Amino acid sequence: MEAVITLLPGDGIGPDVTACARNVLDAVAGKHGHTFQYKEALIGGASIDATGDPLPAATVDACKAADAVLLGAVGGPKWSDPNAAVRPEQGLLKLRSVLGVYANIRPVRIYPELAGASPLRPEILEGVDMLVIRELTGGIYFGKKTRTDTSASDLCEYTVDEVERIVRVAARLAGERRGRLCSVDKANVLETSRLWRDVTDRLMADEFPNIEVETLLVDAAAMHLLSRPSDFDVIVTENMFGDILTDEASMLAGSLGMLPSASLGDGSAGLYEPIHGSAPDIAGMGIANPCAAVASAAMMLRHSLGLDAEAAAVEQAIADAISGGARTADIVAEGDTRLSTDAMTDEIIRCLN
Ligand code: IPM
Ligand code: MG
Repeated sequence: MEAVITLLPGDGIGPDVTACARNVLDAVAGKHGHTFQYKEALIGGASIDATGDPLPAATVDACKAADAVLLGAVGGPKWSDPNAAVRPEQGLLKLRSVLGVYANIRPVRIYPELAGASPLRPEILEGVDMLVIRELTGGIYFGKKTRTDTSASDLCEYTVDEVERIVRVAARLAGERRGRLCSVDKANVLETSRLWRDVTDRLMADEFPNIEVETLLVDAAAMHLLSRPSDFDVIVTENMFGDILTDEASMLAGSLGMLPSASLGDGSAGLYEPIHGSAPDIAGMGIANPCAAVASAAMMLRHSLGLDAEAAAVEQAIADAISGGARTADIVAEGDTRLSTDAMTDEIIRCLN
């Protein structure tokens, strides 16, 4: 097949890991006779430096014209002055919004050989396999903001439609898995959460009677993620709770450097990004873990390009590289050789072939 992929390397380790993901995609293309055409565009701090704008119109156009978008990371100390008028993160939020990718799918997959890299006891990690579905284009991230010398506010807003569409995505995915959905909210305090809960209860009863539904308050969910993580199948939650809970969940996998994500809307195009940030402290040092970016590329093959077998092959190659002992600095144990970003990628490509 032929596909156009827009690459948004962004900031920090973003360029390092997107280059790796591209190399893996090229290996897939070579092996299976596909042609991937890449178009690189600016986003985030790099884009502020070059154009003054964290998401220039040319980038939006390139993303809208592509079959899929692969993003590295945005942000860094250079642009994080609290009083800065423009911020790298604004570019990413606006991109998610203009692409309409409201459903952010974050799989939390455990590689048994990395149990030692997690701060949790190995027996707690046994059988962990969950998908966190984070609402991505609404809530407090996108509500009206105000700021005066003495006060500030961020409005959190959700509509029935916004809740329905994300819960449907999550329920369908649960139906393809173990048939269990956990909805996370803060309905004891927040009105948006009470709406979220009402809509979820009604929709699940009407449309998905065979899916088992559990509801947790976000504070309890944060605890249960650590005390009984293997009980979760699919979790669905609003934008900010999903942001926080997935960083927490990454510790089950041993490193933030292992977790990919796919952001989808109603069409097949999507935005794919590792859940980790720009890690400015290690940017350009060649030691970042490329696995999350490569696994995001695998999700792209599956969800936007319809290449299921190729996606599975890339995921298997990551697993094989890990079980063969390949480790970047973030997941290394005593006695392991630390691989550079490129050497880790080479290992994945070797396993793919
Ligand atoms: C993420 C990130 C972003 C978010 C930041 C960079 C705006 O933390 O994708 O999880 O909060 O959504
Ligand atoms: Mg985050």
